[in-house]
Amino acid sequence: MTNIEKILKNNIKKYGSISVENFFNVVLYHNKFGYYKNNRIIGKLGDFITAPEISQTFGEILTNPLLLNYSIIKKNRLLSLVELGPGRGLLANDILKTINKLNTNFFKKIKSIYFLEKSELFFKYLKQLHISSLIIDDIGKVPNNFNIIFANEFFDALPVNQYIFQKNKWYEILICLDKKENFEFTIAKKATNINYCFPENPTEGYIFEYSSYMINLLTDICKKMSSYGGIFFIIDYARDKKLKDSTLASIQKHKKVDLFFDLGNCDISYKPDFELIKKVCIHNNCKVLGPFTQSFFLQSYGINDRINFLVKKNPKLKNELLNQKLRLIGNSYMGKIFKVLIITDKKYNYEFI
Ligand SMILES: C[S@@+](CC[C@H](N)C(=O)[O-])C[C@H]1O[C@@H](n2cnc3c(N)ncnc32)[C@H](O)[C@@H]1O
Repeated sequence: MTNIEKILKNNIKKYGSISVENFFNVVLYHNKFGYYKNNRIIGKLGDFITAPEISQTFGEILTNPLLLNYSIIKKNRLLSLVELGPGRGLLANDILKTINKLNTNFFKKIKSIYFLEKSELFFKYLKQLHISSLIIDDIGKVPNNFNIIFANEFFDALPVNQYIFQKNKWYEILICLDKKENFEFTIAKKATNINYCFPENPTEGYIFEYSSYMINLLTDICKKMSSYGGIFFIIDYARDKKLKDSTLASIQKHKKVDLFFDLGNCDISYKPDFELIKKVCIHNNCKVLGPFTQSFFLQSYGINDRINFLVKKNPKLKNELLNQKLRLIGNSYMGKIFKVLIITDKKYNYEFI
């Protein structure tokens, strides 16, 4: 039994059951045994690999919509870049390099970079990225000015609660222990008081996944963007709207494992509900475009030309580069399941896809 399992079982024995969000908060963030205290999280040797880890072109292409809207961005005296859950910071690095290469005035305008990052394992990489890299633990520390914000595979990493729709009411799903003291899911007896975030007209048995942390975070960001301006890109696994089941999944060394397996040593994530994210952003006075599939987004902003250019420059790397592109845009890889949402203030007329 892992230390995390022992802690969770003691908590459940004390309280009878615990919420899904509390369960995963302990598994992921426990200050001694949590998953994010672990060494090999991202990369080939870790549990999963992300788009910026696959190819520099992901960050390069994401920079294009910013360069194309620079005439609006430059109207703002102060400008900062913000990344939520940056990991080793490869995405921010690729974006900064591209801006610096293609528009030095834009680069000079970026006065500071804010990284909302929980895992100390990544701090040393993030501090090296820019002369004024700041690692924050609270979105409130992002300044009141125009912000360019990125979140790649961040929302899927946040612990969520689960609610099931039964006979016209929502009930929270909890975690308890069976007779053999194994973890199991159970449904609260009392119905939940709902708010505007819950889906309208759900089907019987629909499982809604939601965390107040995520809603508060999005609300704070949108309020700031609506007052001071900003562009926010969210790229993530997206929940398939037609499916009503739980989307929680546990991954170890690139393979799916049981949710309760080897707790503290596996990455647990869920598929964010882009309709919910959209709803919260619109509710907080921002404009939302998308979601677009990652494939459509990257192709619309020039990934094919960029890869062709790189292949011409490095013919020996042709297969590797084409393989990277396939992983980013192929329908059976990240192309279809990953979605891109663009959120902006309402003050300016940005031009996107
Ligand atoms: C799936 S990784 C993605 C890393 C990076 N964005 C990339 O694309 O390679 C999720 C990241 O979110 C961070 N994270 C998870 N929960 C967080 C939280 N509550 N606050 C800040 N960062 C968090 C993790 O430490 C990790 O860096």
